[in-house]
Amino acid sequence: MKLPFVLAKRFVAGESFDQALPKVKTLNRKEIKITLDLLGENVEDRQTADETVENYIQLLNDIDESELDSTISIKLTMMGLDIDRNYCRDNLFRLLDVARENDQFVRIDMEGSDYTQQTIDIFREAFQEYGKHVGIVIQAYLHRTKEDINQLAEIGADVRLCKGAYKEPKDIALQNMDDIREAFKEYAKVLLHNTPYPRIATHDDELIDWTQKYTREHDIGKSRFEFQMLYGLRQETMEEFAANGYNARIYVPFGTMWFPYFKRRLMERKENIWFVLSTLFQK
Ligand code: FDA
Repeated sequence: MKLPFVLAKRFVAGESFDQALPKVKTLNRKEIKITLDLLGENVEDRQTADETVENYIQLLNDIDESELDSTISIKLTMMGLDIDRNYCRDNLFRLLDVARENDQFVRIDMEGSDYTQQTIDIFREAFQEYGKHVGIVIQAYLHRTKEDINQLAEIGADVRLCKGAYKEPKDIALQNMDDIREAFKEYAKVLLHNTPYPRIATHDDELIDWTQKYTREHDIGKSRFEFQMLYGLRQETMEEFAANGYNARIYVPFGTMWFPYFKRRLMERKENIWFVLSTLFQK
């Protein structure tokens, strides 16, 4: 059964690029940068993975032609990671060829822990070849991040730091929110001191306040990092950040395959369920 899109519209900007475009333009006018995510994950056949790469390439070209201030965020399982690792890497490199040619940027989202090692390995290969055109995401809740973060900082990687959105067992990941926040701060420090431009991705006031205070106290300028949030959440805060000289970027998902993303948003915060219910009663 396909659920109606109206359910997801709070968190998803449309089912097509054309539907998302006016929303992106409005945010850009407010000095908010964007990363566009063409939704989908876990592609199982080569034909769909090939089509996905073509769609991502089209997206880069559409962004370029529409002169949007937007990068893209992609998932390796959309590009065939479940089919064959090297095929997936080659697909990513095809996309990065276009990104480099247009002087654009591709962020590799981080998925569940089954994919962490392969995602980091493929990112490292891509970083060696494409440098500033590619970045990765690191999840503060994973125990292994303690080592990963230093290795990524050492090569000067472009890292988005988030808490982590997947349900992971306790031998792999921290479970308690206070512990996750402490880990987030520790990793943010590593990135702020050792990488050119870290991306702090959270809606959590404790982490936002901490980042603002820490960077002030350590003379890390507002232009040296950015805050990132998800479409549909705390837009006013992002507008405030931009007005106060912080770099602010909103992750804008779109596409017909919105259900897994939508479900993760509902699972992580009960207020998000109320947002969805309230949209249903809006005219
Ligand atoms: P969390 O949901 O933990 O809430 C903590 C506190 O923050 C709340 O108690 C409340 O005080 C405040 N808060 C939260 N939402 C609020 C709201 N809407 N309004 C007011 N206050 C609010 N994950 C992943 O595994 N891989 C990835 O690639 C990415 N990518 C990514 C990109 C971007 C731009 C973001 C913002 C997030 C991701 N994530 C992700 C998701 C991330 O891992 C995490 O699941 C969510 O951001 C939720 O964690 P938070 O820290 O944002 O707040």
